[in-house]
Amino acid sequence: MPNASVRALRSVEIGVTDMAKALRFYTNVWNLSAVAEINGVHYLRGTGAFHHILALRPMSEIALIRMTFDATDRATVDALHAQIKSHGLSSIESPALLKQPHGDYGFGFRDAEGRNIAVVCGVKDHADAADKPDRPRKLSHINLNTGDNDASFACFQALGFKLSDHTNKFRFLRCNADHHSIVLAFGGGPTLNHIAFEMPDLDSVMRGAGRMRDHGHGIEWGPGRHGPGHNVFCYFVGPEEIPIEYTGEMQQVDDGYRTGKPEDWKWPPRRVDRWGVSDPPSERVHKAGLLYRFTPDGWRIHG
Ligand SMILES: [Fe+2]
Repeated sequence: MPNASVRALRSVEIGVTDMAKALRFYTNVWNLSAVAEINGVHYLRGTGAFHHILALRPMSEIALIRMTFDATDRATVDALHAQIKSHGLSSIESPALLKQPHGDYGFGFRDAEGRNIAVVCGVKDHADAADKPDRPRKLSHINLNTGDNDASFACFQALGFKLSDHTNKFRFLRCNADHHSIVLAFGGGPTLNHIAFEMPDLDSVMRGAGRMRDHGHGIEWGPGRHGPGHNVFCYFVGPEEIPIEYTGEMQQVDDGYRTGKPEDWKWPPRRVDRWGVSDPPSERVHKAGLLYRFTPDGWRIHG
């Protein structure tokens, strides 16, 4: 088993075809704040310390470019690089100096199913990190569809992720006290199932849902409370059919957490959340959750 681990999901970069529209949505409606624009890429932060949690790159078609994970220091980056290298992947950069806002040291690679992943340290983060009502704090988790769930799981284990729960549909993986930061869905190929943004509380999830409705983005699934992770949720489809979630109250766990198996997560027929108030996800969000694919070259964080 690997020794080194990433310590957080930092950010995700996506390709958008209408930058003005995307920026308006993610700032005015989704309630992130723009912090920088470098070479046409716009960086947006939550209320947490991370310099940015979302990057928007202008492209001719929608795409997922890269997920970035945080490591404690350069020695940990090097150790993680060794763990990934010994895993037998072919597209891996060597750790090297980076430019802000990416960090000061890190590397990128393609995982077993072609997902672009960067591991970085030394990002110049913000000093202010207090929660604000109705504003996302950070990324909560990214849910990834898989063609080969076992192969993908092995790659995330090489980044130090641990299995929190295993259901018939998903593996829930953690790299810190949050019950999950990555979810691997069984099926759907290497596409994006959804990106979840963490709100400070349930009230903020619900107010955010109201704001989304005000702007023409109805709730596609929820509100509800999930089984594994115990987090509250509302799912939406954003600009260019991106599947996104507001979530909150994620269960905090430690190494004493007992990993659940499919037989631990059996519910009555038609129930899709703990409260039993939610209908199943809409057809639209289901379709949106198969649209976004990783670009072929986004694993090169060094350019
Ligand atoms: Fe989720």
